[in-house]
Amino acid sequence: MRKKVTKAIFPVAGLGTRFLPATKSVPKEIMTLVDRPLVQYAIDEARAAGIKEFIFVTSRGKGALEDYFDHSPILEQELRKKGKEDLLEILKDTNMDSGAIAYIRQHKALGLGHAVWCARRLIANEPFAVILPDDVIAAEKPCLQQMVEAYEETGGNMVAAMEVAPEKASSYGVLDVKEDMGSVVSVNGMVEKPKQEDAPSNLAVIGRYILSPSVLRNLNQRKQGTGGEIQLTDAIAEDIAGDVPVYGYRFKGKRFDCGSKAGFLRATVAFALARDELRDDLMEYITEVAQVSRAAE
Ligand code: UTP
Repeated sequence: MRKKVTKAIFPVAGLGTRFLPATKSVPKEIMTLVDRPLVQYAIDEARAAGIKEFIFVTSRGKGALEDYFDHSPILEQELRKKGKEDLLEILKDTNMDSGAIAYIRQHKALGLGHAVWCARRLIANEPFAVILPDDVIAAEKPCLQQMVEAYEETGGNMVAAMEVAPEKASSYGVLDVKEDMGSVVSVNGMVEKPKQEDAPSNLAVIGRYILSPSVLRNLNQRKQGTGGEIQLTDAIAEDIAGDVPVYGYRFKGKRFDCGSKAGFLRATVAFALARDELRDDLMEYITEVAQVSRAAE
């Protein structure tokens, strides 16, 4: 029987330089799509996939993130006094069970692989998920849940994958596909940020993973090697030689790169249009703006 995936690592220790000056004092993961911080979308997705333990890898200046998941007795008392049951209900999603959430510090931003490695002692010998909150995925069935279901069949390591235009491949880790089985592909290897002409496929890895503990052992060896960025994709690819298969999973859904300004703005519009109370007003405004800019051309 395959071990269930009940732990997820959320690496949130990056500097978020693409959002400076905001990220000087506001963690990127606390920035909001409409009225919910990016991290709330990530937590909701993890819960839907059966995750019970939430491990955040943080860094200096991420205090707001820890506060976000705390109970807020004064605020709750005020809302209760005023009979604002709907708002109290909304706050419930932000509260975590005691002991379900842990914070580990990454003292130096040495890369995503290093951030995941920092959480190794909380993982022990079991499979775990990794969620990058700046990849927000709108999907009927949450992306990680789709992956957990596929993983129950395949085991090994699984990375979320999506087709990208050839000229975009150099921004991602790219899969060298061995066998294409539809939603699931098995892979021969993974190349981090290849040149367009060297990309082995157009299947790019995005920020959802289900990993075997062997990846942490691979990262361990990397830690003892030379400095520089420690790439997660390299440590996963190393498993293929060590006989743990690696699969790409073509998820169903729309991914927004909220680590970039353009992606964040697109997501804001998409998530606002999905809200009944905002849709008509926003649509009217977008149409008006589009007409004005067309007239100005
Ligand atoms: P990014 O490549 O988006 O880096 O990291 P970043 O620092 O967040 O943002 P920019 O590029 O400076 O604007 C991808 C994910 O990996 C985490 C980030 O927090 C983000 O969730 N990360 C990255 C770490 O936790 N530690 C690192 O050393 C690097």
